[in-house]
Amino acid sequence: MSKQDLNGGTSGPAAGEKGGERFSSLGFIMSAIGSAIGLGNLWKFPYITGIYGGAAFVLLFIICLVIVGMPVLLAEMAIGRAGRGNASTSFLNLSGSKRWSFFGFLGVFGSFMITSFYSVIAGWTLHYALSSFTGALYKGTDYAAQFQTFTSGYSPIAWQFLILGLSGWVIARGVSGGIEKFNKVLIPALAVVLLILMARALTLPGAGAGIEFFLKPDFSKLTGESTLVALGQAFFSMSIGMGVMITYGSYVQKEQSLGKATVAVTGGNLLYALIAGLIVFPTTFSFGLEPAQGPGLVFVVLPAAFSSMPLGAAFGGLFFILLAIAAFTSILSLLEVPVAFAMDRWKWSRLKATSWTTAVCFIVGVPSALSVGGVLSDFKIGGKTVFDSLDFVTSNILLPIGGLVVTLFIAYASKRAMEEAGLKGTLLRVWVFLLRIVIPPLIVLIFLYSVGIIS
Ligand code: TRP
Repeated sequence: MSKQDLNGGTSGPAAGEKGGERFSSLGFIMSAIGSAIGLGNLWKFPYITGIYGGAAFVLLFIICLVIVGMPVLLAEMAIGRAGRGNASTSFLNLSGSKRWSFFGFLGVFGSFMITSFYSVIAGWTLHYALSSFTGALYKGTDYAAQFQTFTSGYSPIAWQFLILGLSGWVIARGVSGGIEKFNKVLIPALAVVLLILMARALTLPGAGAGIEFFLKPDFSKLTGESTLVALGQAFFSMSIGMGVMITYGSYVQKEQSLGKATVAVTGGNLLYALIAGLIVFPTTFSFGLEPAQGPGLVFVVLPAAFSSMPLGAAFGGLFFILLAIAAFTSILSLLEVPVAFAMDRWKWSRLKATSWTTAVCFIVGVPSALSVGGVLSDFKIGGKTVFDSLDFVTSNILLPIGGLVVTLFIAYASKRAMEEAGLKGTLLRVWVFLLRIVIPPLIVLIFLYSVGIIS
């Protein structure tokens, strides 16, 4: 395969080349925040914080965001804007080496696979939103059984189809006419819904116990394990390691400050995660429910709380809409990675690339939807269901590898991308020091830990 082949044409108008698609400055910030904020913040962050030490864990998470998350986020954006290509060809454009672009391709593959199972949970949130608004959710009282009945049937496939279809529809409209347009409306809308729900949660009787559980520092719970969990969460929640920010970065205008964008995205991401915790825990505690529920927390515990709250059906519906919006804007970013790749690689139109990617992603995602309690629950690969295997392989293997590739590439292989970040003086020195010396061993550590080689 010639260089030209793999690249999808250095000479043609690749995505982001002159005349290519561009974000507006606000549109980029909103879209990047939309990518970062997702189920990772609103669904996973609260419950792992509860398990791993409350405020002490939050502190650890912030440290991870600052020393690993921010530098790698900036690195991805810089590679994208300097390389002006998709997650794979940006590497090729900058280094001329296929080896790097192969590693970049892992991100294209990884984003696609994440979308296939992430959209399953996103679909659940739509179902829960609807059945909360209509009141159907509150007909019975055994929410665990309801969750099981729902997830073991076939309707999750329809919801998954719906959310992927909507995502495809937005992406097909393009970067400025689709992705940024929707993010600019949905992200502020999300803030409004979050604030309403937080006000409700914090004024419930007995909310204090929940705030305490979430935020009281318990340093005795901080172990090596919590550090690694915090680091992994920093990666996932910042959407780094899968080429998402490289792809988005390739649509950023030259004049925009990538440093400022990094600060805005990190701050926004953290803020939404904290507010999510201030909704989930006060609500859970106020109704005397058990917080250490893990992944089922929001689908099993919260409906019980909403059912006994005045106007609970409306608040519950809003809560699940919030999850759905957050997941939706993340899916837009994940799906754009393979779409941009297909457009460059095969010279497809945006519409064609989107239609194919979305359709194939749906087909690949169906087994995941059926493996959480459904007909495929007993089908195990290495002791894990299809859903869990995909989650494991992408989050614990592809994500750290992707993060490491980005870090090493910018630290050692591309001066051009390093300059693109636009840092100067001390900031530049600190950034390069982190990328060269601190981050690579940390990533290797998460990797070895999460695949079980060290414990
Ligand atoms: N960050 C999103 C969340 O917190 C998920 C996500 C979007 C993601 N794009 C990503 C995770 C890229 C890893 C890589 O839910």
